[in-house]
Amino acid sequence: MRQGKHHDLFFAEDRGELLNFLDDLIPQEKLQWVSEDANTSGQLQCLTTTIEPTLTPPLLSPTAEEPASLLNGHEKPRLLRYYKTVMCKWFDCCDPSKHWSTTILELAETCLPLKNAILAVASKHLSLIGNMDESVTLHYQSLAFRELLPALSSSAYELDMLAAVALLRFIVQMTANSTPDSAERNAISLLGIEVFVEAWSSNPHSITHSVIFMNVLRLYIHAAWTSKQSLLSELAKSRWKRCTLMDSVYSDLSDPRICNGRITLIAAQMLDYCYDNEPKTAERWPGLCEKLDAWLTNKPASFDPIEECEPTAAQPFGAVRFDEEIQAIAWVYYCIAGLMLINNAPPSVVFWFSKEVRGFGFVQELAAKPENHVIAFIRSQSTAGELNKLAVQHRNIDVVEADLFNPESLKKAADEVTAKTDGKLDVLIHNAFSAGTEAMLYKPTEFTGREQELQNEISEAIKGNVLGPIYTINAFLPLLRNGTEKKIIYISTGAGDIEVIRVSGQPGQLGYASSKAAGNAVIAKYAAELADEGIKTLSLSPGWVNTDAAQMLQQNEVMFNYFLKSFQKVDPNLKGPISVQESVQAQLAVIAALDAATSGRFLTHRGDATSWF
Ligand SMILES: NC(=O)c1ccc[n+]([C@@H]2O[C@H](COP(=O)([O-])OP(=O)(O)OC[C@H]3O[C@@H](n4cnc5c(N)ncnc54)[C@H](OP(=O)(O)O)[C@@H]3O)[C@@H](O)[C@H]2O)c1
Repeated sequence: MRQGKHHDLFFAEDRGELLNFLDDLIPQEKLQWVSEDANTSGQLQCLTTTIEPTLTPPLLSPTAEEPASLLNGHEKPRLLRYYKTVMCKWFDCCDPSKHWSTTILELAETCLPLKNAILAVASKHLSLIGNMDESVTLHYQSLAFRELLPALSSSAYELDMLAAVALLRFIVQMTANSTPDSAERNAISLLGIEVFVEAWSSNPHSITHSVIFMNVLRLYIHAAWTSKQSLLSELAKSRWKRCTLMDSVYSDLSDPRICNGRITLIAAQMLDYCYDNEPKTAERWPGLCEKLDAWLTNKPASFDPIEECEPTAAQPFGAVRFDEEIQAIAWVYYCIAGLMLINNAPPSVVFWFSKEVRGFGFVQELAAKPENHVIAFIRSQSTAGELNKLAVQHRNIDVVEADLFNPESLKKAADEVTAKTDGKLDVLIHNAFSAGTEAMLYKPTEFTGREQELQNEISEAIKGNVLGPIYTINAFLPLLRNGTEKKIIYISTGAGDIEVIRVSGQPGQLGYASSKAAGNAVIAKYAAELADEGIKTLSLSPGWVNTDAAQMLQQNEVMFNYFLKSFQKVDPNLKGPISVQESVQAQLAVIAALDAATSGRFLTHRGDATSWF
């Protein structure tokens, strides 16, 4: 069997030989035998339903008259040069052999529609930057369509035709007033991505087919990302899955263009995972994470940004600068893929409030296991700190803003989480709190004559440590009912334990200690009410932990010694606070052991009611 001039045509001695060869690549109903002599010789062509609809040229001017600016004859060489030196940076960015600036340019010498498509794409770009009249684009675009459309029905898989269509699609997408949807509609009336997938899968060894496909794929990634729709139809997807060469073609990450192609394919796969109809299971998700991580680890060092700016309130993801366009393009696809994963983790949920050191420690510890989906709540992006960075590294973290003292805000947050987790929640950990007011260290009798301060101190603490948790639990209860673990954890404090107060002899923190003790009672009430539904609750003290607050305390020697000495009355062996990691790991073990028998209790991070430090 011979392969034709272009890789999409095969010549065989007889029809049977050809059908056997293509059996696994193309469904029989899509093949048509064009023969001069019955079964013995001829051409086999692929037909596809996607090229059958009326091929209405999008966005064309009614006439294709030569604009006056072309009459001087200098424009064509200028446009061809512009295409080769400027536009091909984009078209060739996934292709080490740079086919768009070599082979495809050569094909244009004998293929008028392709040549006109090249002239149209170059003039379109120049017109967008204000260096050419839009009528030039319309002229070439119109010529290209006029010649292309009749030719497509018989040679849709010819390389020159595919390249011309890809370029014309690119122009549609470049049109400023075209929304992703309208661009997509226009583009589909031209040729769908299915045709390009089929063309490549029926010519799996043709690099030129692959690079044409890659450029169309990139247009689709943009459309899928902005319109939140699946990238490929089911038909195209089955073809794509068969195209196993895809991974091997883009495997040598030491080549920058291959490396770029690889991340483009990964981004496409992420978009498909996010918007396809298949269940987002815990099995599928880690595989995609691994692909993305492998790309990040194995990409050449030259792909690292040359400058990274820290996130700010105005620019929560910071800013990055690169050496060359190709690396910036790759980074865009990396970010698309990363964000898709962050927002579409499977619904196995641990839910978390607060961002600061311990909250951060919890998120870190939980997110290290890919099967967890951690939803980290913060009051506002302005205090998100390192959390966004962590969320980019660990795609099983979702960051959601909510004011936990505000039921309205919590309701909105619950809706947001419902959408992310299919309405399920396994464990709710309520960590945020209020320490009270500036009067927090007053002893009870010192409030004599300071009743307003007393009222503020108590109500502020009650708002944060009693009402806030009730609002939160009630807002998320419907999700917890759908969860598997059904656990509500209230992070409390030993300072709210009567025996600790009695033994340590600390008279301060009136609002904080009493509101946390009230919070413990509330949590026991929830246990009583929800036991029949299998929902378990726990008040949990984290110990004395080396958070930012504890470190600040250590800088004030007098204060630190005061607390240390009074805590040592409870535990004479105490030397100081424990690490965040130790506290978090110990608490997670207690949470894991929580069952119906212990529900409603107030326990230490050691799992008992006595080891507070
Ligand atoms: N540190 C210790 O040694 C110790 C000892 C015993 C118990 N605890 C308990 O452990 C928990 C965490 O303490 P921590 O020291 O780690 O404190 P932290 O890091 O400051 O955590 C408190 C968090 O609560 C958030 N928050 C406060 N009000 C909020 C609101 N209205 N909406 C949303 N978020 C709000 C804060 O967010 P912003 O950043 O936006 O303010 C902050 O991130 C607390 O429940 C505390 O009682 C701590």
